[in-house]
Amino acid sequence: MSKTWLRNAYNKVAGILGEGPKKKQNFAVLEGHPAAQQHAQVAVETSGEIRSRVNKLYKEFKIYRWSPDHPTKPFLQSYFVHLPSCGPMVLDALQKIKAEDDSSLSYRRSCREGICGSCAMNIDGTNTVACLKPIDADTSKPTVITPLPHMFVIKDLVVDLTNFYQQYKSIEPWLKAKRAAVEGREYRQSPGERKKLDGLYECILCACCSTSCPSYWWNPEEFLGPAPLLHAFRWISDSRDDFTEERLQSLTEGRKRLYGCRTIRNCTATCPKSLNPADAIQKMKVKHLISEAVEKV
Ligand code: SF4
Ligand code: SF4
Ligand code: FES
Repeated sequence: MSKTWLRNAYNKVAGILGEGPKKKQNFAVLEGHPAAQQHAQVAVETSGEIRSRVNKLYKEFKIYRWSPDHPTKPFLQSYFVHLPSCGPMVLDALQKIKAEDDSSLSYRRSCREGICGSCAMNIDGTNTVACLKPIDADTSKPTVITPLPHMFVIKDLVVDLTNFYQQYKSIEPWLKAKRAAVEGREYRQSPGERKKLDGLYECILCACCSTSCPSYWWNPEEFLGPAPLLHAFRWISDSRDDFTEERLQSLTEGRKRLYGCRTIRNCTATCPKSLNPADAIQKMKVKHLISEAVEKV
């Protein structure tokens, strides 16, 4: 038997390898050579397996697109990311898409450490920061990324946070003291007093909580939303601040600023820093109700 005959036979097998499904093949050209038949069958199966594994290394990301330069209806655009050459977080996938596939994709990011709060977006239905959200390795379904809900979109995943920052500014997020600092240098605090700020000062103003709050969706003008209210409570709880009463009063002047909260608790469920704005809001309501009752006595 000539070597050429065998080579031709293997070439035919190789041709079959390029095609699809794993089923028992009949290699007529290898008739009478059971070992070669068996090897060819194994090669067909292995090739199919390798192809299916390679396909599984790609993950589909469906990303919300809208641009003021081409103001068509918003749509979800699919991108396929090669997972072995991508970092582990959703922000890594976005960076890879922007660098290698589509430089027109817009989103905010800065620290990529969960510190700046700028990469907040909705990923598979949950508001979170993309740099702290691991990529779902299940390649059988896409990851859907949309902007923070109920916000005006500037472009793609970038939303307008002007109202959010105005509301934050309105709670006067800085130390206000009536006394002078000790030796003109700093306002001191005991370790116990400092401890009361844990769970409050860590907020990164990502707006995940406010934009997941139905009360805020319905009334973003009057209700302050959970993030500014958490910060308000941070200053109300600070032993160095002398304006607790005034702060509480200002929060409750228009009843909806604080009492717009209906204790739905979406804010706490979604916070990527595991903070509890709903609890802070509740404590301020109780504080206010007590101070009202005391005034009446
Ligand atoms: S607890 Fe209050 S602030 Fe938080 S989501 Fe519910 S209504 Fe909004
Ligand atoms: S409380 Fe949490 S979700 Fe809300 S802005 Fe702060 S870090 Fe973000
Ligand atoms: S990039 Fe700063 S929090 Fe994600």
